[in-house]
Amino acid sequence: MARHLITSAIPYINGIKHLGNLVGSQLPADLFARYQRARGNEVLFLCATDEHGTPAELAAAKAGKPVAEYCAEMHEVQSKIAEGFRLSFDHFGRSSSPQNHKLTQHFAGVLAERGLIREVSETQMYSPTDGRYLPDRYIEGTCPNCGFEDARGDQCDNCTKQLDPVELINPRSVISGATDLEMRETKHLYLCQSQMKDQLESWIDTREGWPVLTTSIAKKWLNDGDGLQDRGITRDLDWGIPVKKGEEDWPGMEGKVFYVWFDAPIEYIACAQEWVDAGKGDDWTRWWRTDKGAEDVTYTQFMGKDNVPFHTLSFPATILGSGEPWKLVDYIKSFNYLNYDGGQFSTSRGRGVFMDQALEILPADYWRWWLLSHAPESSDAEFTWENFQSSVNKDLADVLGNFASRVTKFCRSKFGEVVPEDGRTGEREAQLVADLTAKVREYEEHMAHAEVRKSATALRAAWVLGNEYLQDAAPWSTFKTDPETAAAQIRLALNVIRLYAVISQPFIPDASAQLLQALKTDDDSWPDDVPAALTSLPAGHAFTVPDVTFRKITDDEREDWQARFAGKRD
Ligand code: MF3
Ligand code: ZN
Repeated sequence: MARHLITSAIPYINGIKHLGNLVGSQLPADLFARYQRARGNEVLFLCATDEHGTPAELAAAKAGKPVAEYCAEMHEVQSKIAEGFRLSFDHFGRSSSPQNHKLTQHFAGVLAERGLIREVSETQMYSPTDGRYLPDRYIEGTCPNCGFEDARGDQCDNCTKQLDPVELINPRSVISGATDLEMRETKHLYLCQSQMKDQLESWIDTREGWPVLTTSIAKKWLNDGDGLQDRGITRDLDWGIPVKKGEEDWPGMEGKVFYVWFDAPIEYIACAQEWVDAGKGDDWTRWWRTDKGAEDVTYTQFMGKDNVPFHTLSFPATILGSGEPWKLVDYIKSFNYLNYDGGQFSTSRGRGVFMDQALEILPADYWRWWLLSHAPESSDAEFTWENFQSSVNKDLADVLGNFASRVTKFCRSKFGEVVPEDGRTGEREAQLVADLTAKVREYEEHMAHAEVRKSATALRAAWVLGNEYLQDAAPWSTFKTDPETAAAQIRLALNVIRLYAVISQPFIPDASAQLLQALKTDDDSWPDDVPAALTSLPAGHAFTVPDVTFRKITDDEREDWQARFAGKRD
């Protein structure tokens, strides 16, 4: 039994995420976690809310709430929505947890002891209008690298370059819009990533089979200008993890907190501790400490491309720099962006479908199927309502749903609601079994490599095989002259429904459960042996006709939704 540690990039606490965010990390991570569990492997699947930094402070201020209260509420909201999408986290933690406070301060202490943190006196943007220092996201301006005009103080969304606020051209305050910003002298901590460049580079060079998107972004920043830059890891904010050296105070750092991007990935580890402290597990070290068994763990991370520099360079710098036996990531799966109907999703303008809204209009499986089968893997992808309607109607309703309904209804009308007994199958059935075997193997191969679209394509092809067989074998005609053969065909077809329910579970868990329930079986074991799996439901086994598994989306609905989600939320 293999052991898989799986993390999804932890979503910012501020507000509800859109479908583009979902498909870039949490959803494919869930697909992979469900698949590994279905194969009988041991899985620890973790996610959390990313609660520090300026996004949280700004959103709380806008909501008129104390930031701690705002975060606690939004964590609950995001957690409920995650359940709605059937995201099967073993724990959904919080980066503001006491565990993460302690662990982040621990890492900083160890890194300092090893000479990898230096204090830097620097000039920082001070806004007289706002009466405060303006760290990263409180400032926007033009990117010095690509000229994008709305680059944030911490990163340019256009070219992904990590920035320091002082680098921005024509900076302005996000709070007031003030441009009369002054530079003032203040002290901050820097993580000496430059000292670790060679170590990081050789680590990345020895990773095998990483997606090109992942390694190309890592290489780009590894060799940017003079090479990997040291990073500021502290900020002048109230909300966050107080800067300490382990448990000791850090002279000169009073009133400062760690930068959100320093503590957020550490939450991947702290989250496993939270999981144990919540009584859901009893040992986190065997997942995270290579001296405690984590050597045998395969660790896969899922994230959008803007997160890649932090996961390929900054977080590994923290881990490697500590000199302690922490588990390093084995595979980084990154995604491009999902666009919305000819433009971008926009949180501020409410353009596109947000996770809560999606669940209000259709069940999770519809979204899961479309998003995963169109995951932005090799390039950006686009959500359009036409495409969504046609995929759902074709793949889910016409192919999978229709197969289940035709087979069960035909059986009910001719043989009753039990798996029929008579007859033997022939050539055509042997061919179907062989074809399904080959498809299932192909599907497994893609799933094992987290090739999301290819997996969806193989799964869809497996569904199509059943329909083609049914069309071809036409048991409704066979029945007129040879009811015994028709019975054998239907016996096989009922077993094919079960097979579909089992293999489709990682994509569409609710439909899968519904089908197994209709078939009155709890045999959801993985079809290691497909021919054997296709005899799981024996003659005489009772079943019921499932309710409509997937309904079609009408043209009226499509038009209505298109208008409703075009923009201007609130
Ligand atoms: N909150 C970040 C985002 O949504 C992701 C943080 S991932 C972690 O872009 F590594 F920092 F945990
Ligand atoms: Zn840029």
